[in-house]
Amino acid sequence: MIEVWKSSMAKGAVIMANMVTSFIGALFSTNKVNHKRVRRQHQAPSNAYDSCHDHTKNMATVTEVIRETENAVTLVFNTRLPIDYRPGQFIHCHFYADGELESRSYSFSGIRSDGQHQITIKETSDGYVSKLINQTFREGMLFQVSNVGGNISPTLLTSTYEKLVLFAGGSGITPLKALAEYALEETSKPVVIVYSNRTHDDIIFFDQLEALNEKYANLTLVHVLDKASSKIGSQGPMNRAVAEQYELLGSNNLFVTCGPGGYINAVSNLLDGADISASSRHIEVFTSVNIPSVPLPPMAKTSNGYTASDDKAKRVEIRDTGESFVVKPNHTILGSAAGVGINLKHSCQAGGCGECKMKLISGQVRHQEPNCLTESERADGFVLTCVGVPTMDVVLESTTSSVH
Ligand code: FES
Repeated sequence: MIEVWKSSMAKGAVIMANMVTSFIGALFSTNKVNHKRVRRQHQAPSNAYDSCHDHTKNMATVTEVIRETENAVTLVFNTRLPIDYRPGQFIHCHFYADGELESRSYSFSGIRSDGQHQITIKETSDGYVSKLINQTFREGMLFQVSNVGGNISPTLLTSTYEKLVLFAGGSGITPLKALAEYALEETSKPVVIVYSNRTHDDIIFFDQLEALNEKYANLTLVHVLDKASSKIGSQGPMNRAVAEQYELLGSNNLFVTCGPGGYINAVSNLLDGADISASSRHIEVFTSVNIPSVPLPPMAKTSNGYTASDDKAKRVEIRDTGESFVVKPNHTILGSAAGVGINLKHSCQAGGCGECKMKLISGQVRHQEPNCLTESERADGFVLTCVGVPTMDVVLESTTSSVH
């Protein structure tokens, strides 16, 4: 059973329908979400957080841990590093755990009036660092931060559009709430947040979203649940009919989607069915991480030249440094480089942040999907080394910045 309601304590009706799960069930279907394996997947996170005692400029100190849901926390932190905060963006974070440096990208959930930043992290079953943070992080703990990036930022709002439609799956609400707050404050255009979760208890920022809904008449907040809740009693399908009820699918609307891969795919199918142009869509994929040197599945035979018997090692040359190395069949470029001591730029190692983006000068690279490359970046020949596997000898060139 799924549940859909328009969250409007004072603003409007709810959808009243009961139906067996259809669309939204697929959003969280585990066989559609491209979960990646995480290092030490089956190990419980250590309670012994190895703080880095070197107070560098990049060091961040946790000043408050806010429990948002049973498996999501917000870290409030301060740092001496100047941060170019833009609503919707993420920041690269680095954690010392069990003697190893783990890097992840986490979206800002906001900035406080005193300049302290907030990131919100949802614990996932295969997320080593997200578990560590959710289960052990306390006020006073340290981690490191570096650059800011991401596909979502207020620059999206400079385009011409009628209505801003934000599709959030799970913790995908984090950057979208920040973007919605900005849009509501800076423009008078309609904003719709469609927020999908399994249950009512999984909803992050429930009270904050309700407060926004109360404050702004031009905001429509639609919650979609795939399990019926006793707390709010409306149920119904999330499908094209619902999208049309809220007039979401206008060709002049601007669509921003954030969530796990399966959710992104489901929303993309919905927008495809409504012939929404690619230029009106923006996505950010949330993924867990894997070991960069883990081989990807063998290639299937396709019409674009890939063969099922791709069993030969490939040579990769980095044009601007002159370095070169060999990549074993179905291994990633990033992992193979690391294996011979070449440290290519990277962060999430999961195709989600764009930090490892390089320009393909010659050759061909296939990617594990989904990832954060946009259609235009693909067309322009950019590749992600962390999830990119060469299918022939390739020459790559560094980009000046991997920030989108
Ligand atoms: S390191 Fe984040 S996309 Fe490759």
